[in-house]
Amino acid sequence: MLTSPVIKLQRTGAPMPQVGFGTWKHTGDKATEAVEAALKVGYRLLDCAADYGNEKECGLGLKHAIDEGIVKRHDVWVVSKLWNTFHRKEHVRAAVKKSLADWGVDYFDIYYMHFPISLEFVPFETRYPPGWFFDGKSQVKHDNVPIQETWEALEELVDEGLIRHLGVSNTNSALLMDLLKYARVKPSVLQIEIHPYNVQTRAVAYAQSQGVAVTAYSSFGPLGWLVFGTSKSAHTQPLFTHPVITAIAAKHPGSTPPQVVLRWATQRGLAIIPKSDTVEQMEQNMKSSGIKLSEEEMAAIGMLDMGLRFNDPADGFEGCHIFS
Ligand SMILES: NC(=O)c1ccc[n+]([C@@H]2O[C@H](COP(=O)([O-])OP(=O)(O)OC[C@H]3O[C@@H](n4cnc5c(N)ncnc54)[C@H](OP(=O)(O)O)[C@@H]3O)[C@@H](O)[C@H]2O)c1
Repeated sequence: MLTSPVIKLQRTGAPMPQVGFGTWKHTGDKATEAVEAALKVGYRLLDCAADYGNEKECGLGLKHAIDEGIVKRHDVWVVSKLWNTFHRKEHVRAAVKKSLADWGVDYFDIYYMHFPISLEFVPFETRYPPGWFFDGKSQVKHDNVPIQETWEALEELVDEGLIRHLGVSNTNSALLMDLLKYARVKPSVLQIEIHPYNVQTRAVAYAQSQGVAVTAYSSFGPLGWLVFGTSKSAHTQPLFTHPVITAIAAKHPGSTPPQVVLRWATQRGLAIIPKSDTVEQMEQNMKSSGIKLSEEEMAAIGMLDMGLRFNDPADGFEGCHIFS
């Protein structure tokens, strides 16, 4: 079985797997099968979110692996995220409890605030997950909940043992800096979009300097976003055929372009959570940590930076310009 290197989280000293498994876009039985397969391969961190709409299915995959004796609950980092419509203090607890029940677990290892954006509450019975839109077109209205209110509600759940570590996602350095000024329970992890077209040098340096580990999502850049047919992802040179990446892969016998892209991230001290449907790719991604890139190779990949984000709410949602 393959194993991942770990990153020690500063607040608790707990060893977070550096290579985790992304579960976004896995649906139905395929989500259950993918989670079970990933655990068999050796993945020990499952990155999920209420917004992915597949927490029950992923939880079933975890249950199968536990029933088969592949893992015990405490071997696996189960990760979820608070959706934007549940930021009011009176909704945070119910949202966490719903995600826990869907997963079939009694605590999360990491629980992120998915976006630093509060949207108007949508009851579970009305629509779950609530998403950004009512009907594919009309955006859920913004709410006026300061991040501090949401954070304090999350801290209570850490006190009660429902959450082991808190994290923030899609948050820039200024917001992280502000949060660190009042947080009683500091964020342990920052999860942001990072790939060779969006290197995020300063955000990574700032978070790491504050003892906040960084997890890169969408490590393969446009590839993970092609399913949505956005022109940005369709018109961007795929990373796996980029001459800089293919030339580096050619210099490391047995390595592949996806592995080079992933290794560039982990060699920066970042955690990664690639999503994949096939066992072969799951294994390949996990084995990426075995490559050693030279300083020149790391720098050459870093030079591909264009500050290009595929998950930028400012692209489609008025009033979300805090990201730009
Ligand atoms: N915090 C946030 O707001 C946020 C946003 C986006 C994503 N995330 C998290 O990050 C995870 C990963 O990001 P992502 O889903 O955007 O995409 P990604 O991991 O960058 O890319 C996934 C794509 O790469 C393909 N792939 C995976 N391994 C491969 C390999 N070795 N060779 C060739 N192709 C390979 C997959 O193919 P197949 O699926 O066909 O195997 C899929 O099309 C998500 O699942 C989610 O957990 C978080």
